[in-house]
Amino acid sequence: MTAQAELTAFATQFEQAFEAALDARLADVPPRLHSAILHGALAGGKRIRPFLLWRSANLFGASLETAWPAAFAVECVHCYSLVHDDLPAMDDDALRRGKPTVHVAYDEATAILAGDALLTLAFEFLADCDAPGPLVRLLAAASGAAGMVGGQLLDLSAEGRFVDAPKPAHDEAAIRRIQAMKTGALIAASCEMGARVAGAPADARTALRDFGRDIGLAFQIADDLLDAEGDAGAMGKAVGKDAHAGKATFVSMLGAGGARDLLAQTVADARRHLSSLPGDTRVLSELAGYIAERDR
Ligand code: IPE
Ligand code: IPE
Ligand code: MG
Ligand code: MG
Ligand code: MG
Repeated sequence: MTAQAELTAFATQFEQAFEAALDARLADVPPRLHSAILHGALAGGKRIRPFLLWRSANLFGASLETAWPAAFAVECVHCYSLVHDDLPAMDDDALRRGKPTVHVAYDEATAILAGDALLTLAFEFLADCDAPGPLVRLLAAASGAAGMVGGQLLDLSAEGRFVDAPKPAHDEAAIRRIQAMKTGALIAASCEMGARVAGAPADARTALRDFGRDIGLAFQIADDLLDAEGDAGAMGKAVGKDAHAGKATFVSMLGAGGARDLLAQTVADARRHLSSLPGDTRVLSELAGYIAERDR
């Protein structure tokens, strides 16, 4: 099976397990919030972060049962980040995963609260893991002000969105930092959390984190190329928005050709980190290629 086929099969399995886990946690939640949370969390996602966590854990012999709570946690954070990213105050998008965004299907306040709930739920899932301390620290650091949240702030700032702050000039290093924080950190954490869940040694945890950091960068370069050149139907979200918003992306800085060259180089960098790892790293290596070449 190719890595892409494995990801597709995993996504189906994940969907069932995630739905059951969410249902179990959300029994006493107000119905409007309950259904908005499910709208933001279920159906249509590629589930790349939980898949990376699982394949990283599996290199060290961990079972899927062991990996599930941490896999649910990273996907909860990711889904929350999308619900908030789509809000009018941020990217103002109406379509996500082929469905209306949560604030369009419900309203802004409900979408903000559904995002808040998914974020807190993530840490509730982590509390179910053996030795949750390091996992909590990893996920909090990757998601918070020094990770995804900080990256989202820099992303908006680079668009010139803050009336009291002039639009800053950006070089490649600045764009790299924004992308590493807003997207790379959670992907790197997914790989490292997989290693943690499986009790992998420190050098392997570092190698997986570095692999994740590089594929996280590749992931966002591909996302930016897809925004410029992709098909909205396949993507299930609007395209052509980054240029319109004046976002700082690798495509705006290097052009599509330059971004594609950097993408190929980043995938090669990512694969180098796999050489020191035990077990069969073929799926992770192929997944790095899929991330670069995906059409959705
Ligand atoms: C989209 O992430 C947001 C970015 C970080 C670029 P994905 O492309 O993983 O979105 P889903 O989960 O598959 O919808
Ligand atoms: C958002 O990046 C990444 C996060 C949600 C942290 P984008 O704004 O480019 O993601 P899309 O294109 O809306 O999925
Ligand atoms: Mg955004
Ligand atoms: Mg967006
Ligand atoms: Mg994008």
